[in-house]
Amino acid sequence: MRKIVFVTGNKGKFSEVKDILASKGIEVIQNKDGYPEMQEDELEPIAAYGAKLTAENLGMPVMVDDSGLFIKALNGFPGPYSAFVENKLGNQKVLKLMENEEDRAASFKSVIGYCEPGKEPLTFTGTVDGNIDFEEKGSGGFGYDPIFEYKGRTFGEWGDEEKNKVSHRRRALDKFLEWLQ
Ligand code: IMP
Repeated sequence: MRKIVFVTGNKGKFSEVKDILASKGIEVIQNKDGYPEMQEDELEPIAAYGAKLTAENLGMPVMVDDSGLFIKALNGFPGPYSAFVENKLGNQKVLKLMENEEDRAASFKSVIGYCEPGKEPLTFTGTVDGNIDFEEKGSGGFGYDPIFEYKGRTFGEWGDEEKNKVSHRRRALDKFLEWLQ
């Protein structure tokens, strides 16, 4: 069985990826050591750098996921700073920032960085377009899921199994799997 180390401390990301890759016969091992994140406006260079660094350190094929929420009316904020904003502000304060905005459009984006020791890193990007709701809804998922509305329901209301079929991470993983196979 093919083994890939997934470097992430995020439980939600790990369980989503583990389930999807297990269904394709790939074992994913979690490593929570983390890696320094470069400050960039785009997710791709952050994921590429993280994958390369950790693959060389661990001496194994490594994947990382750098993801975020990009809100159109806020010029793409919080984007690459999504984890920081989630920890410091949380969903209620993001909703407050959006209080008077009519344009609710937002995208979730996920970039999978993959690297084998001694090789150059590759990136695979997936996005899903939706809207910022006016309140938190649903108890499923993690992070911004309760405020991200897609096709009439928030990701918090979708349920993990259903979300995993359409999510930004799923779309990035599909591209990664196509390349792997
Ligand atoms: P990263 O660890 O820098 O990639 O942080 C990504 C952050 O974006 C997470 O901590 C969440 O706040 C948010 N995020 C990414 N993907 C999702 C998702 O599928 N649902 C909800 N929030 C997400």
